[in-house]
Order: sequence, then C-alpha cells, then structure tokens
Amino acid sequence: MSDKLIKEVKQKFTEIFTIEPLLIFSPGRINIIGEHTDYNGGFVFPAAVDKGIAAAIQKSDTGSSTAIALDLDSTVQFELDKLKPSKEGSWENYVFGVVAEIQNRNKIIGDFNIIFKGNIPGGAGMSSSAALENSVVFGLNELFELGLTKHEMILISQKAEHNYVGVNCGIMDQYASMFGIKDHALHLDCRTIESRPYKIDFKDHQLLLINTNVKHSLSDSAYNDRRSACESISELLGIDFLRDATEADLETVINKVTPTNYQKALYVIQENARTIKAAKAIKNNDLELLGSLIYQSHAGLSDQYKVSCAELDFLVAQAKKNKHVLGARMMGGGFGGCTINLIARSEVKAFAESASKAYKSKFDKDCSVYFIELSEGTHIVK
Ligand code: GLA
Repeated sequence: MSDKLIKEVKQKFTEIFTIEPLLIFSPGRINIIGEHTDYNGGFVFPAAVDKGIAAAIQKSDTGSSTAIALDLDSTVQFELDKLKPSKEGSWENYVFGVVAEIQNRNKIIGDFNIIFKGNIPGGAGMSSSAALENSVVFGLNELFELGLTKHEMILISQKAEHNYVGVNCGIMDQYASMFGIKDHALHLDCRTIESRPYKIDFKDHQLLLINTNVKHSLSDSAYNDRRSACESISELLGIDFLRDATEADLETVINKVTPTNYQKALYVIQENARTIKAAKAIKNNDLELLGSLIYQSHAGLSDQYKVSCAELDFLVAQAKKNKHVLGARMMGGGFGGCTINLIARSEVKAFAESASKAYKSKFDKDCSVYFIELSEGTHIVK
C-alpha cells in the first residue's frame, strides 16, 4: 500500500525537479495502552504501522527551497535563513519547524525540495504529524550528512512540534514512528527514552481501528492545558514527573489541587500502572486481562482525564456490547480520531459493519475502519 505512495511522490518529484530524489517512508503509529503518560515520564505501548508518509527529497540549487503537500495540492517556497512559523494550523510548520530545530543545533543544511503524501488522515490520532516531521529530519540528515542519531532526530521532531506547531507533545509519536519494528509493539519508558520490543501475535484476535472522522477544535490547547496541570501537580509533590507519584502521594496534596486536576493526576498514575500490567499480560498471552485494561484506560480518559468525546464514547460503548471485543478505547491525544479495538478475528467484519451502521444512524456521518500491520520505523526506500 505504501508502494503506491512512494511511486507517486517519486514520479511527481522527477517530473517537477528533473532529478532523482531520495525516497523515505515514515510510518504513523498505534498505541495499545498508555495514553497521556509520555509527557509524565511514564510508560506507553505504541507500534509503527504500515500507513504513514512517503517523501521524496533532494538538494536544490536554485537558491530557495520548496515543499509540496501532494494530498493538499499545496506548495510553499522558503528561504532557509528567513524561517518563521506560518499561521497556526498550516502544514508547512511541520517542515519549517524541523529545519529550524536542525539549525538550532548548529547543523548546516543547504536548500532542498521535498514532496510528500500520506495515507493516514490528519486528526486520526495516528500521528501523521510525527511521521511527517521524522521524514523531513531523516531525509535532511541523509542528504546533508548531518550525522544525527535517531534519538537526536526524534528530539528535533518533537521540538518542531512544540515551537512551530504549538503542541507540547511528549515523545511517544516520534519515537514509535522512528524506531518501529515489524510485528512488534514497543514498551517505551518515556523518561529514559528506551524501549523493549514485544512481539505481537494475538493468534485468533487482532487489533482494529475505527476512525470517528472527527477532530474537535481546541484539542491542541486542551492538550497543552492537560500537560501544564500535570506539571504543576508534580511540582507540588516535589518530583520531576507524575510517573514517580503513588496514589498515596497524591492524597497528600488533595487539598491543594482542584478536584478536576486531582482526577487528572490520578488518571495518569493509574494509566501508568495499567501500562506496566499490560506488558505482563501480553507476555503471558492473557488477552482477557489486556482487554480489560484497555477498557479501563478508556474510562479514565473519558471520565477523569476528560479528553474523549461523544463519538469516541459511542464507539467504545458499541464494542462493550459485543462479547467478541475484549477491549476498546480512544487512541492518541483525544477529542476525536480513532478507537483501538482488541477483537476476535472471526468477528471483525460483523462488528465493523454493525458499529459503522450504528454510528451513522447516531451521528449522521460515517466512521472508517482501518486494518493495520505493525511495521518498521522511518526508513529509506530503495
Ligand atoms: C499525542 C501526543 C503524544 C501523546 C498522546 C497521548 O499523540 O503527540 O505525545 O501525549 O497524544 O498519549
């Protein structure tokens, strides 16, 4: 499926710039469990998937650089020494941000042209943004022989998102997209930024995504607010990250925080514990336990952390009514995007159909069903 994308960007590139490009595929990600724990120094459980961004990139000798988003049929020209963020919400901020962060590290790059196209819709909660950032940094590192390690590259991608896009994201998305391993999920410790791969083979069960196809506005500011709330409670507790707090620790400051923020911090502490339990459940092939942790995760995200929405809650409720779905929850930052479902293989078609029908009649719009394979991280395509 990504072959087609690669072919398309390559063809367009040679057509427009009449030179062979370097080709890169950078995947999106799923996350089995561990949501909003990454910027709290905690554990997450993502995997790169077979959908993402294909990019064609090459040096330019025209004295300026060009980026083309094929999906949007949108082109920007820019000069490397005059970069500043474009207006909020513009796709070029992902490209500009990466270039600026490379320059901030005193690495020298020259002009370049890039054309990219993706097959995950923005707002699906599958990190098309991290995939794009990683494709740019990976391509520039290669073209201009910058000698950046993969760890340095993901920190550049993350900073681009903070400083140019305006979302104070954690490291999960960039990490999963860069370090993904075929057929594996990564149990990532976001404090040390080191992960353990877990082979994912659920035998007669599989993961299935259903996209609500909504992205509610204000999701970026709500995301940043959640992060600040967590950081202020860590500060009160005298620790670097909420990951280091226990529920008992949190009790000690209960009178100093608002009830809503108390619930948010409690969610983070509990979600982190669930993510550690989930790793054991996967190791023991205990899918019932994994599924119930996934349902608990959704309840926490919806009731305590307050990042779900009616559409996501509805799809999870549909899953709960079906005994063949062992677990379901919203995935990613929230306020829209996908649910991830752990479901019996034999029931996928029937569930996808019934959930889609119910969704349509409830919201008068369509959801989309995605089948995914766990795949390799950002790489050059020969
Ligand atoms: C977004 C962010 C990640 C992470 C998730 C929630 O995807 O980019 O860093 O915080 O939300 O788990």
